[in-house]
Amino acid sequence: MQDLETQLQAAQAQRFRLIVTDGVFSMDGNVAPMDEIYALAQKYDAMVMIDESHSAGVVGHTGGGVTELFDLRGDIELITGTLGKAFGGAIGGFTTGKKEIVEMLRQRSRPYLFSNSIPPMVAAAGVKAFEMLSQDNTLQDKLHENTAYFVKKMQDAASILSPPHRQFVRSCFMTPTSPSKWQMHCLKKAFM
Ligand SMILES: Cc1ncc(COP(=O)(O)O)c(C=O)c1O
Repeated sequence: MQDLETQLQAAQAQRFRLIVTDGVFSMDGNVAPMDEIYALAQKYDAMVMIDESHSAGVVGHTGGGVTELFDLRGDIELITGTLGKAFGGAIGGFTTGKKEIVEMLRQRSRPYLFSNSIPPMVAAAGVKAFEMLSQDNTLQDKLHENTAYFVKKMQDAASILSPPHRQFVRSCFMTPTSPSKWQMHCLKKAFM
């Protein structure tokens, strides 16, 4: 945060400042401290962009990502995410945010002008996944329950888990072959 503040101070003479961060960092499951980041953005008149690829659909009470977790819905200029992770899609992603920026991206984004976009059925499946999330919280509640259960049991059995970061649990293994053995075991037990 100290370095971010230094950079924001150094960029004060620029017309725009944009802070870009992951919502959740994939390797350790760290959640970005969005409250502190947003406070700095306010202080130094910067916009914020969050990549919610690892958080959309799983973090926050209704799966609204770190934006929901930190109660920042409507405050973040730009949010990106993938349809390929929690939403179960094969490919593709989305960008959302302030309407002026979305409008500008509609004019400038390559998939709108030059490149092929994602196939319509993938887009339809993505829309359906969003619809399901907004209509019913059963899957979210189950995920939160399962995570708490998994963490408790693993911590009771062996201290190989780092402190849990909400829906993300980092497991550390002592040898390179262990993770694949563990994966096979989980698959057999239908945990994955
Ligand atoms: C932070 C982040 N954003 C976006 C992506 C892209 O995800 P996908 O390949 O599902 O579109 C990844 C992939 O792992 C990622 O780690």
